[in-house]
Amino acid sequence: MNVAQAIERRRSVKAFDPAHQMEEAEITQLLGLAKLSPTAFNIQNWRFVVLRDPALRAQVRAASFGQAQVTDASLLVVLTADLKAWEKAPQRYWHDAAQPVQDAMLPMLDGYYRGREQVQRDEAMRSCGIAAQTLMLAAQEMGYESCPMDGFDFDAVGKLINLPADHVISMFVAIGKPLQPAHPRSGPLALEELVVIDRF
Ligand SMILES: Cc1cc2nc3c(=O)[nH]c(=O)nc-3n(C[C@H](O)[C@H](O)[C@H](O)COP(=O)(O)O)c2cc1C
Repeated sequence: MNVAQAIERRRSVKAFDPAHQMEEAEITQLLGLAKLSPTAFNIQNWRFVVLRDPALRAQVRAASFGQAQVTDASLLVVLTADLKAWEKAPQRYWHDAAQPVQDAMLPMLDGYYRGREQVQRDEAMRSCGIAAQTLMLAAQEMGYESCPMDGFDFDAVGKLINLPADHVISMFVAIGKPLQPAHPRSGPLALEELVVIDRF
């Protein structure tokens, strides 16, 4: 499957086979691919919370309007981000770069995020959004279906996963084997409405 095919075939599946178990190696492969997603300044601010405990999944489902994907998907990843990743030993994000690059990047990174809470949050959402798509396309190529999700109580889920105060939840990605295909595409807009050349 090439990238264009994975993009075209990816749909949001609602009914997953709860009996299907994903191999550990597949989970490692998926998360290893997700972490190759780009992040600004290479801060790698995502923290991928993998929900394995069935009892926890049931509690999260209750906090997600009862959506079945939460318990029935083979893999449920809560994409969270560390809002303060930029100040936590940032030299490790650049330790393999040449010294002049490190010398330039580290102060730039600090200057960009320090004191700018909205920017930190925006960056978290950007990083997680890109990683979510990486996960979904990689899953597609591996013969799985997926569903991105934000239909849940963020505060309740944060409590259930002991989300640290300086982290934020972006979304879930559920991955598994489908019991039913996705509904037909519901209303794609024309490209002309979505593309702006040069200025609004
Ligand atoms: C950020 C985000 C949150 C979503 N939340 C949910 C959700 O909670 N439950 C659900 O069934 N689908 C959810 N969806 C799936 C959308 O409904 C779906 O992507 C959209 O209808 C387009 O369909 P497609 O993904 O099959 O192409 C979400 C999608 C995104 C991108």
